[in-house]
Amino acid sequence: MNFTDHERAILKGAHGAGAKKAMEILVSLARIFGADSMIPIQSSQIAGVSYLNIGDVGLGFLSDWEEMGAKVSVPSFMNPAGIDRALWKKMGISEHFAQQQMKIIATLSRMGVEATLTCTPYHIGQMPTLGDHLAWSESSAVSYANSVCGARTNREGGPSALASAIIGSTPAYGLHLDLNRLATHKIHLECDIRTAADFNWLGYEIGRRIGDAIPFIEGISIDMSSWYSTLCLKAFGAAMAASGAVALYHIKDVTPEAISTGNEILKDHAIELTIDNLDDARRALQHHARKLQLVTLGCPHASLAELTYLADMLKDVTLKIPLWITTSAQVVNLAREAGIISRIEASGALVISDTCMVVAPLKDLGFRYIAVDSAKAACYLPSHQNAITYFGTTEQCIESAKEGRWIN
Ligand code: F3S
Repeated sequence: MNFTDHERAILKGAHGAGAKKAMEILVSLARIFGADSMIPIQSSQIAGVSYLNIGDVGLGFLSDWEEMGAKVSVPSFMNPAGIDRALWKKMGISEHFAQQQMKIIATLSRMGVEATLTCTPYHIGQMPTLGDHLAWSESSAVSYANSVCGARTNREGGPSALASAIIGSTPAYGLHLDLNRLATHKIHLECDIRTAADFNWLGYEIGRRIGDAIPFIEGISIDMSSWYSTLCLKAFGAAMAASGAVALYHIKDVTPEAISTGNEILKDHAIELTIDNLDDARRALQHHARKLQLVTLGCPHASLAELTYLADMLKDVTLKIPLWITTSAQVVNLAREAGIISRIEASGALVISDTCMVVAPLKDLGFRYIAVDSAKAACYLPSHQNAITYFGTTEQCIESAKEGRWIN
């Protein structure tokens, strides 16, 4: 590898044991993926924060690293944790779980990572720009940064994102390089894609068909200036990353690299696919249980505009079963100031920050039958929470919470 003098010094331990360990992780990754140099990054988004996912072993790993004096050197922020720091008791989360979770957050905070606890940092002022290099790790955030913003990040694991945050750079491989950002698949759409649910189904279908490849999609027309398009595109990327492992997509005349390069965004001999209906995706995300215990919205984490929209939908509504809407604490604060939280809570719904349905200990809270308006959540809830899930439109989810049963 071509190291700078600074990188060589870090590897020799001149900047402390914590930085040396971080550099060793990145060098190992560079060797595995054939990178010959490092690229400076603008920011890092660090997953593996929930106590549910990393447990005591993960907490020990982070504590050891912190004790070595490791500190981040670029803006770095945390993915959702397993609790809402303010509402965990109300959620029914145990004292032990909450305490261990708070230790993880405190450890990362002492290392300099901001406790944003969100998968949508772009809703709280961390909007990457075209060509930025990043080390982000949550799959929907990675997809949004790469595809909608035109920034460049691989799908990092928690430790590699933290290592990059400490060093301030990442190995130059994968989606950091022009050649690896070309589309491998050209997808012709012959069905109407308009609503957020359509984008969820389509994302699920594309991910299922192409795995970890890069699609270039023709036939989507979307007004990029509206908040609803942001909602649709983040759900679309989240779904593709969950049913497959798509970390970058291009949409003709919509996403920045597709606009700037036109048909040159396609790799030679790109595979052509046509999608003329979403029936398979609808069937795959449909479950037929009778019981419903919880409805959760806000995957990926909701924006202020989405909370406003949901407050309007919940006007004069009384819910029969719990409805949770997940977002970041920063968005909650803005929404509280604007009177949106009280409007939502008047229906009985709860706006939960810092966590989500997949990384909170829902199974321990006794929730098994869960409705969502996110294909990503519908993909993950069965495996992560042993849940029976229902996927539907936002309207369908709210109507179901109102009726206390799933409304088809
Ligand atoms: Fe975010 Fe949790 Fe969904 S991390 S993308 S709200 S599964």
